[in-house]
Amino acid sequence: HPVTVLAPATVANVVCGFDVLGFALAEPADELQLRLTEQPGVVITHEDDFGLPTEPARNVAGAALLAMLRAVPEEVGVEISIRKTIRPGSGIGSSAASAAGAVVGLNALLGNRFSQPELVHYAMYGEEVASGARHADNIAPAIYGGVTLIRATLPSPDVVPLDAPPLFVTVVHPQIEIKTADARRILRQEVPLRDAIRQWGNVGGLVAGLLQHDYALIGRSLEDVVVEPVRSILIPGFAEVKDGSRVAGALGGGISGSGPALFMLSQDEATARAVENVMHATYQRLSLDYHTYVTTIH
Ligand code: HSE
Repeated sequence: HPVTVLAPATVANVVCGFDVLGFALAEPADELQLRLTEQPGVVITHEDDFGLPTEPARNVAGAALLAMLRAVPEEVGVEISIRKTIRPGSGIGSSAASAAGAVVGLNALLGNRFSQPELVHYAMYGEEVASGARHADNIAPAIYGGVTLIRATLPSPDVVPLDAPPLFVTVVHPQIEIKTADARRILRQEVPLRDAIRQWGNVGGLVAGLLQHDYALIGRSLEDVVVEPVRSILIPGFAEVKDGSRVAGALGGGISGSGPALFMLSQDEATARAVENVMHATYQRLSLDYHTYVTTIH
Protein backbone atom coordinates (compact mmCIF):
# COMPACT_ATOMS: atom_id res chain seq x y z
CA HIS A 1 0.00 0.00 0.00
CA PRO A 2 1.28 3.52 -0.76
CA VAL A 3 1.65 6.10 2.00
CA THR A 4 1.03 9.84 1.69
CA VAL A 5 3.12 12.31 3.69
CA LEU A 6 2.59 16.05 4.22
CA ALA A 7 5.99 17.66 4.73
CA PRO A 8 5.88 21.19 6.22
CA ALA A 9 7.80 24.30 5.31
CA THR A 10 10.29 25.35 7.97
CA VAL A 11 12.16 28.45 9.10
CA ALA A 12 15.82 27.73 9.84
CA ASN A 13 18.23 29.77 11.97
CA VAL A 14 15.46 31.76 13.74
CA VAL A 15 17.67 34.87 13.56
CA CYS A 16 20.44 34.19 16.12
CA GLY A 17 20.56 30.37 15.89
CA PHE A 18 22.48 29.83 12.66
CA ASP A 19 22.38 26.08 11.86
CA VAL A 20 21.02 25.20 15.34
CA LEU A 21 17.41 26.48 15.60
CA GLY A 22 14.39 25.95 13.36
CA PHE A 23 10.62 25.67 13.44
CA ALA A 24 7.89 24.10 11.30
CA LEU A 25 5.07 26.13 9.73
CA ALA A 26 1.40 25.11 9.64
CA GLU A 27 1.52 25.89 5.88
CA PRO A 28 2.60 25.53 3.11
CA ALA A 29 3.44 21.80 2.91
CA ASP A 30 4.56 19.40 0.18
CA GLU A 31 2.69 16.18 -0.51
CA LEU A 32 4.68 13.03 -1.14
CA GLN A 33 3.40 9.59 -2.05
CA LEU A 34 5.64 6.54 -1.65
CA ARG A 35 5.35 2.83 -2.25
CA LEU A 36 7.75 -0.08 -1.92
CA THR A 37 8.90 -1.93 -5.03
CA GLU A 38 10.62 -5.27 -5.49
CA GLN A 39 13.04 -3.57 -7.85
CA PRO A 40 15.88 -2.10 -5.70
CA GLY A 41 16.64 1.61 -6.12
CA VAL A 42 14.62 4.82 -6.16
CA VAL A 43 12.27 6.10 -8.89
CA ILE A 44 11.18 9.75 -8.64
CA THR A 45 8.24 11.48 -10.33
CA HIS A 46 7.46 15.18 -9.94
CA GLU A 47 3.82 16.25 -10.14
CA ASP A 48 4.91 19.77 -11.09
CA ASP A 49 7.63 21.31 -13.16
CA PHE A 50 10.16 23.22 -11.10
CA GLY A 51 13.00 21.70 -13.13
CA LEU A 52 14.14 19.53 -10.20
CA PRO A 53 16.38 16.56 -11.06
CA THR A 54 14.84 13.09 -11.03
CA GLU A 55 18.14 11.19 -10.94
CA PRO A 56 18.05 9.81 -7.36
CA ALA A 57 21.62 10.70 -6.35
CA ARG A 58 21.10 14.32 -7.47
CA ASN A 59 17.63 14.72 -5.98
CA VAL A 60 17.26 15.66 -2.28
CA ALA A 61 14.52 13.10 -1.63
CA GLY A 62 16.39 10.51 -3.70
CA ALA A 63 19.71 10.98 -1.89
CA ALA A 64 17.97 10.67 1.50
CA LEU A 65 16.08 7.53 0.40
CA LEU A 66 19.23 5.91 -1.02
CA ALA A 67 21.03 6.52 2.28
CA MET A 68 18.18 4.93 4.22
CA LEU A 69 17.85 1.97 1.85
CA ARG A 70 21.57 1.20 2.36
CA ALA A 71 20.75 0.63 6.05
CA VAL A 72 17.95 -1.83 5.28
CA PRO A 73 18.74 -5.56 4.94
CA GLU A 74 15.81 -6.30 2.57
CA GLU A 75 16.26 -6.07 -1.20
CA VAL A 76 13.61 -3.40 -1.77
CA GLY A 77 13.22 -0.18 -3.69
CA VAL A 78 10.87 2.76 -3.49
CA GLU A 79 8.78 4.81 -5.90
CA ILE A 80 8.08 8.36 -4.85
CA SER A 81 5.90 11.04 -6.41
CA ILE A 82 6.33 14.61 -5.16
CA ARG A 83 3.84 17.46 -5.35
CA LYS A 84 5.61 20.63 -4.28
CA THR A 85 3.74 23.58 -2.80
CA ILE A 86 6.87 25.00 -1.16
CA ARG A 87 8.73 26.77 -3.94
CA PRO A 88 12.32 25.60 -4.41
CA GLY A 89 14.81 28.30 -3.46
CA SER A 90 12.32 30.28 -1.37
CA GLY A 91 14.15 29.98 1.95
CA ILE A 92 11.44 28.12 3.83
CA GLY A 93 12.97 24.67 3.67
CA SER A 94 11.74 23.36 0.32
CA SER A 95 14.57 20.86 -0.07
CA ALA A 96 14.33 19.79 3.58
CA ALA A 97 10.60 19.11 3.19
CA SER A 98 11.29 16.74 0.29
CA ALA A 99 14.10 14.96 2.15
CA ALA A 100 12.29 14.78 5.51
CA GLY A 101 8.98 13.73 3.96
CA ALA A 102 10.73 11.02 1.94
CA VAL A 103 12.42 9.36 4.94
CA VAL A 104 9.27 9.64 7.09
CA GLY A 105 7.31 7.95 4.28
CA LEU A 106 9.83 5.16 3.73
CA ASN A 107 10.01 4.59 7.49
CA ALA A 108 6.23 4.13 7.60
CA LEU A 109 6.45 1.62 4.72
CA LEU A 110 9.12 -0.26 6.67
CA GLY A 111 7.04 -0.50 9.85
CA ASN A 112 8.50 2.59 11.61
CA ARG A 113 11.75 0.91 12.56
CA PHE A 114 13.87 4.09 12.62
CA SER A 115 13.96 6.66 15.43
CA GLN A 116 13.48 10.40 14.85
CA PRO A 117 17.22 11.17 15.21
CA GLU A 118 17.91 8.41 12.66
CA LEU A 119 15.41 9.97 10.26
CA VAL A 120 17.17 13.32 10.68
CA HIS A 121 20.47 11.59 9.94
CA TYR A 122 19.22 10.10 6.63
CA ALA A 123 17.38 13.25 5.54
CA MET A 124 20.61 15.24 5.96
CA TYR A 125 22.06 13.35 2.99
CA GLY A 126 19.40 15.09 0.94
CA GLU A 127 20.13 18.50 2.43
CA GLU A 128 23.78 18.01 1.54
CA VAL A 129 22.85 17.60 -2.13
CA ALA A 130 20.92 20.89 -2.02
CA SER A 131 23.25 23.10 -0.03
CA GLY A 132 26.65 21.39 0.14
CA ALA A 133 26.44 21.28 3.93
CA ARG A 134 24.91 18.77 6.34
CA HIS A 135 22.90 21.14 8.51
CA ALA A 136 19.66 19.97 10.15
CA ASP A 137 17.86 23.17 11.14
CA ASN A 138 15.17 22.67 8.47
CA ILE A 139 15.19 18.85 8.55
CA ALA A 140 14.74 18.47 12.33
CA PRO A 141 11.66 20.71 12.71
CA ALA A 142 10.15 19.17 9.52
CA ILE A 143 10.41 15.75 11.19
CA TYR A 144 9.65 16.65 14.84
CA GLY A 145 7.29 19.59 14.30
CA GLY A 146 7.33 22.68 16.51
CA VAL A 147 10.56 24.44 17.42
CA THR A 148 13.74 22.41 17.61
CA LEU A 149 17.28 23.04 18.83
CA ILE A 150 19.90 20.97 17.04
CA ARG A 151 22.56 20.94 19.75
CA ALA A 152 24.90 18.97 17.50
CA THR A 153 24.77 16.91 14.32
CA LEU A 154 27.91 14.87 15.02
CA PRO A 155 28.54 12.12 15.92
CA SER A 156 24.74 11.81 15.53
CA PRO A 157 21.86 14.34 15.53
CA ASP A 158 21.15 15.63 19.06
CA VAL A 159 17.74 17.28 18.60
CA VAL A 160 15.97 19.04 21.48
CA PRO A 161 12.28 19.85 20.86
CA LEU A 162 11.37 23.16 22.57
CA ASP A 163 7.90 23.78 23.96
CA ALA A 164 7.06 27.22 22.55
CA PRO A 165 4.10 29.49 23.34
CA PRO A 166 1.58 30.31 20.57
CA LEU A 167 3.30 32.39 17.89
CA PHE A 168 2.06 33.79 14.58
CA VAL A 169 4.47 33.85 11.69
CA THR A 170 4.36 36.24 8.74
CA VAL A 171 6.54 35.20 5.83
CA VAL A 172 7.35 37.11 2.66
CA HIS A 173 9.11 35.50 -0.26
CA PRO A 174 10.42 38.15 -2.65
CA GLN A 175 10.96 36.57 -6.08
CA ILE A 176 14.72 36.76 -6.26
CA GLU A 177 17.02 33.77 -6.28
CA ILE A 178 19.55 33.07 -3.54
CA LYS A 179 21.26 29.68 -3.53
CA THR A 180 21.99 28.35 -0.04
CA ALA A 181 25.43 27.20 -1.14
CA ASP A 182 26.25 30.77 -2.27
CA ALA A 183 24.73 32.29 0.87
CA ARG A 184 27.02 30.05 2.94
CA ARG A 185 30.14 30.76 0.90
CA ILE A 186 29.99 34.51 1.58
CA LEU A 187 29.95 34.11 5.39
CA ARG A 188 32.95 35.10 7.51
CA GLN A 189 34.79 32.04 8.77
CA GLU A 190 35.98 33.80 11.94
CA VAL A 191 33.78 35.58 14.48
CA PRO A 192 35.23 38.22 16.86
CA LEU A 193 34.83 37.19 20.48
CA ARG A 194 32.60 40.17 21.31
CA ASP A 195 30.16 39.15 18.53
CA ALA A 196 30.22 35.53 19.69
CA ILE A 197 29.36 36.59 23.25
CA ARG A 198 26.44 38.67 22.04
CA GLN A 199 25.23 35.84 19.81
CA TRP A 200 25.28 33.07 22.41
CA GLY A 201 23.60 35.43 24.87
CA ASN A 202 20.81 35.79 22.33
CA VAL A 203 20.57 32.05 21.58
CA GLY A 204 20.35 31.27 25.30
CA GLY A 205 17.81 34.06 25.74
CA LEU A 206 15.67 32.86 22.84
CA VAL A 207 15.63 29.25 24.08
CA ALA A 208 14.77 30.41 27.62
CA GLY A 209 12.13 32.83 26.31
CA LEU A 210 10.46 30.04 24.31
CA LEU A 211 10.49 27.59 27.22
CA GLN A 212 9.28 30.18 29.75
CA HIS A 213 6.70 31.57 27.29
CA ASP A 214 8.26 35.00 27.88
CA TYR A 215 7.40 37.03 24.76
CA ALA A 216 9.47 40.06 25.79
CA LEU A 217 12.59 37.91 26.22
CA ILE A 218 11.92 36.24 22.85
CA GLY A 219 11.69 39.68 21.25
CA ARG A 220 14.94 40.95 22.85
CA SER A 221 16.78 37.81 21.77
CA LEU A 222 15.80 38.00 18.07
CA GLU A 223 19.08 39.66 17.10
CA ASP A 224 21.85 38.28 14.88
CA VAL A 225 25.25 39.99 14.78
CA VAL A 226 27.05 37.20 12.89
CA VAL A 227 25.16 36.15 9.75
CA GLU A 228 22.47 38.77 9.11
CA PRO A 229 24.86 41.70 8.55
CA VAL A 230 26.42 39.76 5.64
CA ARG A 231 23.38 38.10 4.10
CA SER A 232 20.86 40.92 4.45
CA ILE A 233 22.73 42.86 1.77
CA LEU A 234 21.43 40.29 -0.78
CA ILE A 235 17.76 40.96 0.07
CA PRO A 236 16.06 44.12 -1.22
CA GLY A 237 13.67 45.64 1.31
CA PHE A 238 15.23 43.84 4.27
CA ALA A 239 15.66 46.82 6.62
CA GLU A 240 12.30 48.30 5.64
CA VAL A 241 10.45 45.04 6.41
CA LYS A 242 12.32 44.45 9.65
CA ASP A 243 12.01 47.97 11.03
CA GLY A 244 8.41 48.42 9.82
CA SER A 245 7.39 45.09 11.38
CA ARG A 246 8.77 46.08 14.78
CA VAL A 247 6.84 49.36 14.55
CA ALA A 248 3.72 47.32 13.66
CA GLY A 249 4.19 45.35 16.88
CA ALA A 250 6.09 42.23 15.79
CA LEU A 251 8.37 40.60 18.37
CA GLY A 252 11.10 40.51 15.72
CA GLY A 253 12.39 38.35 12.92
CA GLY A 254 14.83 38.32 10.05
CA ILE A 255 15.99 36.13 7.20
CA SER A 256 14.31 32.72 6.93
CA GLY A 257 17.11 30.19 6.47
CA SER A 258 19.46 31.55 3.84
CA GLY A 259 16.70 33.70 2.29
CA PRO A 260 15.36 35.31 0.25
CA ALA A 261 12.25 34.79 2.41
CA LEU A 262 11.91 36.97 5.51
CA PHE A 263 9.84 36.05 8.55
CA MET A 264 8.45 37.94 11.51
CA LEU A 265 7.03 36.55 14.75
CA SER A 266 3.99 38.09 16.43
CA GLN A 267 2.05 37.33 19.56
CA ASP A 268 -1.37 37.65 17.93
CA GLU A 269 -2.93 37.33 14.50
CA ALA A 270 -3.90 41.01 14.14
CA THR A 271 -0.24 42.01 14.51
CA ALA A 272 0.81 39.29 12.05
CA ARG A 273 -1.65 40.81 9.52
CA ALA A 274 -0.29 44.32 10.15
CA VAL A 275 3.18 42.93 9.47
CA GLU A 276 1.90 41.45 6.21
CA ASN A 277 0.77 44.95 5.20
CA VAL A 278 4.29 46.26 5.84
CA MET A 279 5.57 43.54 3.50
CA HIS A 280 2.95 44.40 0.84
CA ALA A 281 3.91 48.08 1.01
CA THR A 282 7.64 47.35 0.79
CA TYR A 283 7.59 45.05 -2.22
CA GLN A 284 4.93 47.02 -4.09
CA ARG A 285 7.11 50.10 -3.68
CA LEU A 286 10.14 48.11 -4.95
CA SER A 287 8.01 46.66 -7.83
CA LEU A 288 9.21 43.17 -6.96
CA ASP A 289 7.00 40.08 -7.24
CA TYR A 290 6.44 38.36 -3.89
CA HIS A 291 4.27 35.91 -1.93
CA THR A 292 3.19 36.29 1.68
CA TYR A 293 1.92 33.77 4.23
CA VAL A 294 0.37 34.40 7.62
CA THR A 295 0.53 31.16 9.57
CA THR A 296 1.55 29.63 12.90
CA ILE A 297 4.27 27.38 14.24
CA HIS A 298 3.11 23.81 13.81
N1 HSE B 1 21.16 27.14 8.38
C1 HSE B 1 21.12 27.09 6.96
C2 HSE B 1 21.76 28.34 6.40
C3 HSE B 1 19.71 26.98 6.49
O1 HSE B 1 21.39 29.41 6.87
O2 HSE B 1 22.60 28.24 5.52
C4 HSE B 1 19.58 27.11 5.00
O3 HSE B 1 18.61 26.29 4.52
